[in-house]
Amino acid sequence: MKIAIINGPNLNLLGKREPGIYGSTSFEEFLEGLKKKYANIDINYFQSNVEGEIVNELQRVGFDYDGIVLNAGAYTHTSIAIGDAVAAIKTPVVEVHISNVHAREDFRKFSYLSAKVAGSIVGLGLKGYELAIDWLVSR
Ligand code: DQA
Repeated sequence: MKIAIINGPNLNLLGKREPGIYGSTSFEEFLEGLKKKYANIDINYFQSNVEGEIVNELQRVGFDYDGIVLNAGAYTHTSIAIGDAVAAIKTPVVEVHISNVHAREDFRKFSYLSAKVAGSIVGLGLKGYELAIDWLVSR
């Protein structure tokens, strides 16, 4: 089974970035544990701060992977192109946000992705990525 995790802008700074909101664990540290926990799953991790690169990666993995966990960061709230890419591909996508976007600024309450994904997990910290994988595995 192949699962892609795609993280968008500024998520490369997890652990250093606003730890009160996003926690103090880096994604690399978290990913190490995730790969151990799901040793039987091929987990491919991609992060980019560039919108078009996220579109390219969704297109690359979106026809033969079994699932995609997508945290598009701030592009969630701005990117028609990433929303269109999610709608265009065949692989089911779970949208994850570490923070509870609904409890923050109003501009974070709208997502161009939510209507296109299989489901969304928000506000449960890094655990959200695990829950997304559990759901993808269980389908
Ligand atoms: C985020 C929430 C977004 O609003 C923000 O721009 C991010 C991270 C989250 O994981 O909580 O970069 O996607």
